[in-house]
Amino acid sequence: RQLLASELPDAQVIVVSNREPYIHNLVDGKVKLLVPASGLVSALEPVTRTCSGTWIAYGGGSADRLTVDDNDRVQVPPDRPSYMLRRVWLSDEELQGYYCGFANDGLWPLCHIAFTRPIFRASDFEMYQAVNQKFADVVVEEARNERPIVLVQDYHFALLPRMIRQRLPDATIITFWHIPWPNSEVFSICPWREKILDGLLGSSIIGFHIQFHCNNFTESVDRFLESRIEREDPSITYRGSTTLVHPYPISIEWPPVGFQNQPKASECRRQIFEKYGLAEDMWLCAGVERLDYTKGILDRFMALDQFFQKNPDWVGRLVFLQIAAPSRGTLAAYQQLHRQCLDYVDEFNRRYGNDRYKPIILLDEYHNQEDICRVYRAADICVVSSLHDGMNLVAKEFVATRDDEQGVLILSTFAGASRELLDALIVNPYDPSAVGEALLRGLNMPAEEQRDRMRRMREVVRSNNVYRWAGSMLLDAARLRKRNEAYEAT
Ligand code: G6P
Repeated sequence: RQLLASELPDAQVIVVSNREPYIHNLVDGKVKLLVPASGLVSALEPVTRTCSGTWIAYGGGSADRLTVDDNDRVQVPPDRPSYMLRRVWLSDEELQGYYCGFANDGLWPLCHIAFTRPIFRASDFEMYQAVNQKFADVVVEEARNERPIVLVQDYHFALLPRMIRQRLPDATIITFWHIPWPNSEVFSICPWREKILDGLLGSSIIGFHIQFHCNNFTESVDRFLESRIEREDPSITYRGSTTLVHPYPISIEWPPVGFQNQPKASECRRQIFEKYGLAEDMWLCAGVERLDYTKGILDRFMALDQFFQKNPDWVGRLVFLQIAAPSRGTLAAYQQLHRQCLDYVDEFNRRYGNDRYKPIILLDEYHNQEDICRVYRAADICVVSSLHDGMNLVAKEFVATRDDEQGVLILSTFAGASRELLDALIVNPYDPSAVGEALLRGLNMPAEEQRDRMRRMREVVRSNNVYRWAGSMLLDAARLRKRNEAYEAT
């Protein structure tokens, strides 16, 4: 807030994302609020609260239409309203083409190395264009002046920056791509690759989590567009304007407000063990994610299988609690993964378990932040073995909840978080024996070593928190605005 006041006075901050931060659902005649399972939302929400911005998103809840005024605007969070949520309504047809189709059947598998083939349909891309245009119209409607700061979020809106630029040439548009960017060879598969790049280069700044994804993006532009690339202060000049390309590693809020006022770790452990019928001397591993094929959930179960074969003395003593929030359930790839997980766990538990002991507990339902916090605090080990991930905030959340300085994090080398959380046990998720070895090492890790590692990781998350993430983008934006003002004055 201070930074905005000093560096960007009078700037209006507008956030645009597909997912809304609070879904209003109608349950038994009452409006119930649900915070979606989305790393994007957990990161952006505290930032938008702090700068009292306007957040434009798709309004998907069953009660949305009942809770908004005529302008489709609502103040959130409901208990301490701090910013305006402007909902954009999408028809089933629009959602199908833009969200399920081009964004999630096309761009999502294109950008993640998970060996799921992207599906590109011309009709989906047309709808994606139309929906991006619809959001551009809403941004223009919400802008109070010619120079708002627009924070465009993620792969749902690759075309939006250019569309906004055409209508608001002086806007500062910061686009953050929350998922990896593939190498130029992979990117070339996309039939509309030039359009995607042209759309994104309407931004003043494009951010990725890590330098590697910035490099991949720059290489893609170099290969497919006529542009000038500056490698020193990395930027791309195209169609007469310049876009900065920078890494901004996303994070979570610190202090982690959502996790405060929760019972101590020992009490969480007692509650979780009682809830799932675990004996006191058992060991608990936890995984927390959306049921998504990029998260490596099946691979981790297979690693556990190998681990039990090699270390049979752990059978009966170790339980893996996997929260797998339902996600994108209308898409075939997600339905198939869900079925595979259910079948795998069923067979696994028959093989290693009995009436009283289920080695894998698969919770394929939504859990709120409090429930998730209890699981983090109760666990001996948290396993984040994604096949590919831009950052992965579960890893940072786990660390943030462990104020007892205990617990071991096993982290995929293919998650952006592995560049920062060097005290995790870093693994290749494709290598079940490496994951098994990390499990054994974690289970045997002395409390002192856990404390040292956890302290260092907590320090990283504390200092590289989400305000720093937003702050560095806004500082770069201020720098750009000043440079442009000086240029205009000459
Ligand atoms: C990833 C994406 C977010 C998205 C989240 C949940 O983290 O980067 O943009 O919100 O997944 O997916 P969903 O499709 O449910 O919004």
